[in-house]
Amino acid sequence: MTVPIPISLHVNGERVDAHVLPRVSLADFLRENLHLTGTHLGCEHGVCGACTVRVNNEIVRACLMLAVQTNGALVETIEGLSDSGEFADLQAAFRDRNALQCGYCTPGMLMSAQDLLKQHAEPSREQIREHLSGNYCRCTGYQAIVDAVEIIARLRKERRQ
Ligand code: FES
Ligand code: FES
Repeated sequence: MTVPIPISLHVNGERVDAHVLPRVSLADFLRENLHLTGTHLGCEHGVCGACTVRVNNEIVRACLMLAVQTNGALVETIEGLSDSGEFADLQAAFRDRNALQCGYCTPGMLMSAQDLLKQHAEPSREQIREHLSGNYCRCTGYQAIVDAVEIIARLRKERRQ
């Protein structure tokens, strides 16, 4: 018989103590145990990027990581980043540029875009496409998403000057 394992982590700045079965994915843990349903599930095998979250400042596929692997980790989801305002400008640009339609890909897309912008102050359109190539969108055709990320890269650079 498999028994639940105790884990302790921080999710969006708050300490979480839980008991989880070893087979439970981080995505299911966030969605079902913590009710953080902004982390979406599409393919559930690491292809679509809908489940992208940050663990210890690195973006990961939450469907491919086990909840027990996050013991002691800092986990950030779309809810946390939205509440903190960390990428409010990016969210506004997605809205203004029509870079989302059904919105299913959007949380993962924003997590990946923010990850790119933290690494590259001025990414080329090619770099933006490359970095977001692991995030599938069935609605937009990607052009508007690349536009939104490019605009925010430029605005953030201007703000730093
Ligand atoms: S649901 Fe995790 S990559 Fe598709
Ligand atoms: S906006 Fe619908 S999947 Fe991207």
